[in-house]
Amino acid sequence: MFAGKKILVGVTGGIAAYKAAEVVSRLRKLNIEVHVAMTKSAAEFIAPLTLQSLSANPVYVDLFDEPKLWNVEHIALAEHVDAVIVAPATANILAKMATGIADDFLSTVLLATRAPIYAAPAMNHAMYHHPATQENLTRLKERGIKIIGPGTGFQACGTEGDGRMSEAVEIVETITQLFSKSECLKGKRALVTAGGTQEPLDPVRYLGNRSSGRMGYAVAQALQEAGAETILVSAPTDLPAPHGVSRMSVQTALEMYDAVLANFPNMDVIVKAAAVADYRPATRAEQKIKKDGTNRTIELVPNPDILAELGRRKTSQVLIGFAAETENLLVNAQEKMHRKNVNLLVANDVTKPGAGFGSPTNTVSFLFPDGRRIDFPQMSKLEVARNLVGEIANLLGDCNKGVK
Ligand code: CTP
Repeated sequence: MFAGKKILVGVTGGIAAYKAAEVVSRLRKLNIEVHVAMTKSAAEFIAPLTLQSLSANPVYVDLFDEPKLWNVEHIALAEHVDAVIVAPATANILAKMATGIADDFLSTVLLATRAPIYAAPAMNHAMYHHPATQENLTRLKERGIKIIGPGTGFQACGTEGDGRMSEAVEIVETITQLFSKSECLKGKRALVTAGGTQEPLDPVRYLGNRSSGRMGYAVAQALQEAGAETILVSAPTDLPAPHGVSRMSVQTALEMYDAVLANFPNMDVIVKAAAVADYRPATRAEQKIKKDGTNRTIELVPNPDILAELGRRKTSQVLIGFAAETENLLVNAQEKMHRKNVNLLVANDVTKPGAGFGSPTNTVSFLFPDGRRIDFPQMSKLEVARNLVGEIANLLGDCNKGVK
């Protein structure tokens, strides 16, 4: 089932480094191609030869002493693998990952790769609870890096507490879940809208909103990770297009309407995360509007509701809407879900701290037309997106077991 998959196991210098041998061995038993990169201190804890024998591949330790397999090997390896797992992940590598330091082979690959990254922290419990480590972990989670564990129990330093590396079996199960998920949407076509539309008043001004586009971009990334061919119809944002996603840039609600409707018949999944202006100025001045000291009134005319139009035209497509509310969240969201005929509505109260516009995190509920509701705690937008993709796979009925 996992044949053809490629994983890089990054081993850093902690007492749990010996458990990396079991991680490598378990992955190999699943027919996964395993590469290993170790830090110099990890090589003090476990011999590279052990991991080389178990992985059946050369082990990378020093940036300037790379095994000669590819050109510019750290970059080639970064692009070659489907996932990276750092196990054990010391406080030091977590700090380097959080700040983008790349001063050895492993940290350089971690900066260069676009593959999903997992980290299994392992350290003394005081180091784990230090605010610096906790802040680094929060930053990494916000960026979509999946943290596995740590567990609690007896520690090598003789104390008890959090900080033990999760067991190899748990680490391998988490990664293989990702691979099962990535099969789920293979062959499916998805369209995501993101960002806030801009409605011009004159050549230099527009009516806009506070959407950063982050939620929609995270959804596009998660769909692409899950194997769907993904188009992102994006209103202006500062964000780079996620790797492997094709982006169509639009400015106004009418341009977004045209782009979405043109692609709609070929799509299996549509996620409308964009904040679309409900109104636009009735006229657009040819020249910059000059001030004259008097009051001004701008006449607005309604824009089409793109999602509602898709809800009317929908045949077999899975249609996902968002509802950004500032009051009566669930009542308003339920009403939108039925009015727009969507299969799932992601509801969020944008007034909550750590949720909504501009924030890297979100706190959402998924509502379904059959009355089901899933409430999530605050998490990174990429984690919300991956949960959403799990539900999309379930709605498409492609993954028998479902994915979460
Ligand atoms: N939406 C859309 N076209 C519009 C307005 C909204 O496609 N002209 C979509 C959004 O992309 C989102 C959902 O409808 O998926 C809900 O958007 P929201 O702004 O929360 O709701 P509105 O329908 O605009 O209702 P209201 O402004 O009254 O809350």
